[in-house]
Formats: sequence, structure tokens, C-alpha cells
Amino acid sequence: MESNSKYKCIVVTGGAGFIGTNFIRYLFEKIHYPGVIVNVDKLTYAGNPENLADIEAKFGGKRYFFEKIDICDFNACEKLFTTYNIDCVVHFAAESHVDRSIHGPKDFIYTNIIGTFNLLECCRSAWENDYASRRFHHISTDEVYGSLGETGYFYETTPYDPRSPYSASKASSDHLVMAYYHTYGLNVTISNCSNNYGPYQFPEKLIPLMILNMKSEKPLPVYGDGKNVRDWLYVEDHCLGVWLVVNEGKAGETYNIGGENEWHNIDLVQKLCEIVAEKTGKSRDYYKKLITFVKDRPGHDRRYAINCDKIKNELNFRQTVEFSQGLEKTVDWYLNNKEWIERVKSGEYRKWIERNYEKR
Ligand code: NAD
Ligand code: DAU
Repeated sequence: MESNSKYKCIVVTGGAGFIGTNFIRYLFEKIHYPGVIVNVDKLTYAGNPENLADIEAKFGGKRYFFEKIDICDFNACEKLFTTYNIDCVVHFAAESHVDRSIHGPKDFIYTNIIGTFNLLECCRSAWENDYASRRFHHISTDEVYGSLGETGYFYETTPYDPRSPYSASKASSDHLVMAYYHTYGLNVTISNCSNNYGPYQFPEKLIPLMILNMKSEKPLPVYGDGKNVRDWLYVEDHCLGVWLVVNEGKAGETYNIGGENEWHNIDLVQKLCEIVAEKTGKSRDYYKKLITFVKDRPGHDRRYAINCDKIKNELNFRQTVEFSQGLEKTVDWYLNNKEWIERVKSGEYRKWIERNYEKR
């Protein structure tokens, strides 16, 4: 597959995180994007540049550049726009984990709101002679819409009703992005996606946490009654959707991206138990004995379900990875990438960051 994007130099913020890493891989490996990518990342606990070590080796200094930058640092963001001839920003960088936002919301407010504001301000001034040929794409979440009951879906027109510090910070940044469209005419798009799964996800999120706990025969903590519903999408299909919106989405528009794939948490954990059992030569129900119901997440949204007819009808989005197949691929990845897992679990990857980025 060949890419025919009009954008020649794309800043991907948060490119060392889960989805950003997959997005950069998608561009270089899957669609052979021919332009320049600048990965802008602060390298918080969730950022791991080892994820892209092979991309760095192959394209580094030519078509791939890494900039260790905190997007809350306005001057550093501004300098980016004088160093590179940027014509597109795809903004993934964020604090992303709901439980962490409950324990300590501060970083969420700074990075997700102030960081987004800084990038918007830089685009506003760097691109003011020609907004139309440049694009700012903001990655958002279905969590901004709040919580559904047993029925119904989130549409692009659903009023925002965020309920966690994380989703409130994402909702704020979405509003800022749209304000820059209406007020200044900046060429913006937003995509609001459901739960992603796949390789390189930090093992604090449900699916990798469960797989790794099974491997270590640790309890599998299911919050509350396990009946909360999430709509799962394979990460590469999210990347595909984002790329469609970046290139073909209409300025000032929001696009929902979802898996049309709702699962109660408990059913998903049981299915994972069966897949891991099969792959590790255990009996079908072997890991299910580890399932432990624990205290619920405060304000735990009951159900998310995305209606993504708009991106399907207008931009011809189609998922390519069926859920069972995606889960198998994900389990295989976590079972086979022992070194990545050991380095993340032991914190060794942080030492690599210190050696390569902090002591230079
Ligand atoms: P992640 O936590 O895995 O990665 C976030 C990345 O952002 C990390 O590399 C981190 O170092 C970087 N970062 C954090 N603060 C920064 C700062 N101040 N300056 C520069 N870089 C910073 O997150 P993810 O799961 O890959 O999510 C990426 C984006 O997608 C987020 O905006 C999130 O809200 C959104 N999203 C995620 C999902 C999901 O299921 N994971 C679903 C929908 C939307
Ligand atoms: O919906 C999109 C969102 O999906 C993104 O915006 C967020 O960045 C991303 O983290 C994710 O949020 P969730 O809170 O849905 O994901 P998480 O993996 O933390 O939890 C998924 C579900 O599983 C949720 O209902 C809480 C539950 N859960 C989670 C963990 C970590 C458990 O029952 N046990 C756990 O140990």
C-alpha cells in the first residue's frame, strides 16, 4: 500500500506511547509514507523510545527525528516550528490512564489542556499565512461523551458529559481545538475513539495487565461486578482511521472511530484466560481461578459504545482486524516479546532513556 498524503512533514506527539508508536510504524511500514516524521515526546513513564529503535536505526536523521520535548514547555514547542518545516500535527500526547487521573489529576490538566493549548498557539502563529494547506489533528476519546445505559450509542452530536479527571481534561482540549477552528480558522479535525488494544500498550491497561498477570499467576483484578462495557478496536485500525481523517476529513469536523465490538469486562477477561491457556498448554479454565473481583473504580463509566457511521460513510473507513484474530495477535505479542516486557516491568527502559536522552 502506498500513501499519497499531501503533508510532507508531520509532527506526531506522543509517538513513544502505545498508539503513537503503532501510528509511526503504520506510516513507515504499512503504507510507506514518503515524508518526514518528527516524534515529539516527553518520555513520561508511558513513553518508551525502544519501541521505535529499529525505525530510528533505519530512518533516523533522514526521515525520522525524535525530539524529547514536554508540550507544556511553550518555548520548546515554538522552536520545533522553526527547526522543521511542519505542515501537519497529529496530536496523541496525553496522560491517558483513568485510574492515574483519579489518584493524581494534576499532570492530566497540564499536559492534556495546557499542552494542547501550546501546540494550537504554535500552529496559529507558524501557519498564519496559509491555514488551509496545513492540518492540526487531535486524538480524542469516546470517554468525553460520558456513560451509556443498556442501550444507545455515542454520536458525533452527543453532548459532552465527562466524568473522570482524564475525560474532563480531554473534553477541555477538544473544546479548545474547535475554538481555534471557529475563532481563527485553523484547519483542525478531531477523532474520538473507543478502547484500543494491541502491541506496545503499557501493562497498566486492562488487556496487557491481564495477560501479564496470567503469565505470573497473579490475581486478575476485575473492578466492581465486571459488567461494565467497553467497545474494543485493534490499534492498527485506529491508525487507519486517524490517517483517513488527517488526509480526507473536513476541517472543523469530528469523527467517531469505534470497533462496533462491545464486551462486558468479565467476558473479555474470561476469553483472554482461554486464549492464554491454549497458548501456554494449560487446560481451558486454568487461569479463570485467578479472577478476583475488587473494589470498583470511583465514577466508573458503565458502558461505552460508538456509532461510527460518519467515518464509514464519508471516508469509507472499514476495520481490517476481526476481534478474535486481534486478541490472538496481541496475546502472541505479549507472550513472545519477553525482553520488552522484562525491561518495562523492571524499569530498565528508563535507564536506557537516561543514557540516551538525558545525559547527552
Ligand atoms: P500512552 O499513555 O500510551 O502514551 C502517551 C504518550 O504521550 C507517551 O509516550 C508519553 O511520554 C507522552 N506524553 C505524556 N505527556 C507528555 C507531555 N507533557 N509532552 C510530550 N509528551 C507527553 O497513551 P495512548 O494510549 O497511546 O493514547 C494516545 C492518545 O490517544 C491519547 O491522547 C489518548 O487520550 C487517546 N486515546 C487512547 C485510547 C486508548 O484506548 N488507549 C483510546 C482513545 C483515545
Ligand atoms: O475508551 C477510550 C479510553 O480507553 C481511552 O480514552 C483511555 O486512554 C484508555 O485508557 C481506555 O480507558 P479505560 O478506562 O476504558 O481503559 P482501562 O484499560 O483502564 O480499563 C478498561 C475497563 O476495564 C474499564 O471498565 C476498567 C476495567 N478494569 C481496568 C483495569 C486496569 C478492570 O476491571 N481491572 C483493571 O485492572
